[in-house]
Amino acid sequence: MGQIKIFVTRPLPEQALAVLRDHGDLSYNPEPDLSRDDLLTRAKGAAALVTILDDRVDEPVLAALPGLKVVSNVAVGFDNIDVGAATARRVIVTNTPGVLDDTTADFTFALILATARRVVEADGFLRSGQWTRWELLSMAGMDIHSKTLGIVGLGRIGRGVARRAKGFAMRLVYMDVARAPESVEQELGVHHVSKEILLRESDFVTLHVPLGPATRHYISDGEFAQMKSSAILINASRGPVVDQEALIRALDGQRIWGAGLDVFEGEPKVPVELVHRKNVVLTPHMASSSIATRTRMAVIAAENVVAVLRRERPNHVVNPAVFEG
Ligand code: GLV
Repeated sequence: MGQIKIFVTRPLPEQALAVLRDHGDLSYNPEPDLSRDDLLTRAKGAAALVTILDDRVDEPVLAALPGLKVVSNVAVGFDNIDVGAATARRVIVTNTPGVLDDTTADFTFALILATARRVVEADGFLRSGQWTRWELLSMAGMDIHSKTLGIVGLGRIGRGVARRAKGFAMRLVYMDVARAPESVEQELGVHHVSKEILLRESDFVTLHVPLGPATRHYISDGEFAQMKSSAILINASRGPVVDQEALIRALDGQRIWGAGLDVFEGEPKVPVELVHRKNVVLTPHMASSSIATRTRMAVIAAENVVAVLRRERPNHVVNPAVFEG
């Protein structure tokens, strides 16, 4: 139908493609890779672009696609998109918030448990035939129950983590640019503290903030210096929230006990200094990756496109300024 071109940059579940098919000429890259040059060539003439986090949508891309009306990112985060440049060109940018909070909070706990209890290291130990006898302190790790969890960013995902932590009888402290209402603090059993106290008192520091100028390298040498040497850092937010070089220095100097990382600076590259360490658990940016949640995210991204093509306002607009003036 029609001449409206929709370009989808990567494989999406059929449910999402079905939503798009009825609303334009669907052009779809079924391969997991797409170079920037290929994106520019294949998306030519598109009114709608469905992107993933590996697609960098900046001013040159927007300039090359003058007919573009919407960039629909299949993610809650959108740091891969130059939102300012899109807004200046009146291109609507959409995301997929809400559906991935619990899945991401579940995974944050997977990282907490796996890192503290050395699950990945122990699995490797057994599979490589090194398990020859029972030893009292074999694979001894850190307790989780009754420990202090410091939540940086008490948004939807941070709150989901707090709810789960309650079941582990953890003491919960948090910090955020805006303090949560008292009713929320009471319901979750969380205490608002300064960054200094959170770093000093937490056995686990878990990050749930978006990446922006204020949060880039939010955790660096100065912060590691304040943390307990028994502390574990968990990052399922964005890689650059942590100064990765400083993290490596902190691990090398035994400034902290370990780290559970789903995201990295410059991913998918991960430095050998992390890959070779036993006291880190490393996963490939997969915190929201349950079949149900990723499918739902793709469908929401498709629905966001359809709304724009119908000249309706999508449910999840990142740059509402495009509708002003
Ligand atoms: C994943 O990182 C997302 O932003 O959805």
